[in-house]
Amino acid sequence: MTVTVLSEVATGAEDLSVWPASTQRLPHGGLAVGGVSLAEVADRFETPAYVLDEGEVRGRCRTYQDAFPAADVLYAAKAFLSRAMVRCVREEGLGLDVCSAGELELAVTAGFPPERIVLHGNAKSPRDLETALRLGVGRIVIDGPSEIARIAAAVGPEGHQKVMVRVVPGVSAGGHDKIRTGTDDQKFGLSLTDGGAQHAISRILGQPQLELTGLHCHIGSQITEVKPYLVALRRMVGLMARIRDTHGVVLPELDMGGGHGIAYRPGEPALDLTALSRRLRAELHKGCAAARLTVPRLLIEPGRAVVGPAGVAVYRVLAVKHTGEKAFVAVDGGMSDNPRPALYGVRYAPRLIGRACTAGPRTATVVGRHCEAGDVLAADVELPGDIHPGDLLAVPVAGAYQLSMASGYNLVGRPAVVAVHGGSARLLVRRETLDDFRSRDVGD
Ligand code: LLP
Repeated sequence: MTVTVLSEVATGAEDLSVWPASTQRLPHGGLAVGGVSLAEVADRFETPAYVLDEGEVRGRCRTYQDAFPAADVLYAAKAFLSRAMVRCVREEGLGLDVCSAGELELAVTAGFPPERIVLHGNAKSPRDLETALRLGVGRIVIDGPSEIARIAAAVGPEGHQKVMVRVVPGVSAGGHDKIRTGTDDQKFGLSLTDGGAQHAISRILGQPQLELTGLHCHIGSQITEVKPYLVALRRMVGLMARIRDTHGVVLPELDMGGGHGIAYRPGEPALDLTALSRRLRAELHKGCAAARLTVPRLLIEPGRAVVGPAGVAVYRVLAVKHTGEKAFVAVDGGMSDNPRPALYGVRYAPRLIGRACTAGPRTATVVGRHCEAGDVLAADVELPGDIHPGDLLAVPVAGAYQLSMASGYNLVGRPAVVAVHGGSARLLVRRETLDDFRSRDVGD
């Protein structure tokens, strides 16, 4: 597929800063990602479609590897997982963070080395633990006191399992209340403040078949500043020093979780990864030197920042409605493929693609096709005034926590995922069909 690229001057300086780096303008209002026209993707694979720029995913993995040369970077699979994604992450040398038997088994059966996987979860099911032990997962992160005896029993007296402990450091950070996990008022982890973490650690150290390799914390998601990580790290190092003093044990690993924030719209802040790496390292070395502690190996678990900016959602407009002062542009997807605006009030920047636009801009609200008024994808955005059914809308920064949180609402079916790279497109995940729904529906 060849694409003719238009100059910036010919098209106006529209801001593509949150789009994948490979994005190019095409004649007549088109856009290409990974060398593939998005309008052609829509024609060939139908809509809604999620386009994943493989080069962007790999580039982001490399950015992490370069920024954190002395750390283990684990991709958080919950942001988006498919076999191709597993391969990408493995080939780029990252580890993996999973939180269910499903994510774990998909990764391992797609060839991911189990020893490079960390299993999380505040409520691990018997199947999660059985799968983790059967497949030989690298580390299990203990999230609550009741897990200690459970995991020890499942491992058995002759067995051996590396574990970490999820500590709540008492730091509040994150883009929305629902994704803040660093304080004691939420369900994850063991508290540093009330001594729950310290108590759990003594019990784990008393279980010979469990090898405590280190501490873990994940303070929240969509964090755009370095400071909360530094505060958390200081407290974690303090706890590591106390563990050394109390138990004579020097833990070799410290996992600072993920949560690295990205821009969803031009001009929004994103976490500066280079600054994060530099300042985390400095703080770690300073804290360890002060406590005369051997510097632990750092682990981080980014999900969103690896895959979010690599994805673009492509919808077709089904209806345009004007009610009083408001214009509604309804597309063929919605909250079933992207629940994030409804859940966290996230704002996106959709854009018309596939035709030149002659009309001036008009404020419109992009809504989905689902049966509720809260099914809004982007409220009050600027779109061409002549937008009409049949037009294509593309929404950048769609790679994380959209498809992975997609639902079967209204039996619309989850969209296809199409990988683009070097001018060619290939289907990664096919569209969910009525037959898929029917095949699960086994009663009458
Ligand atoms: N590690 C742990 C233990 C986590 O719980 C998470 C995310 C991550 C790493 C990765 O965080 P990230 O780098 O992707 O921010 N559905 C929400 C985000 C929920 C995040 C849950 N845990 C959203 O759409 O914003």
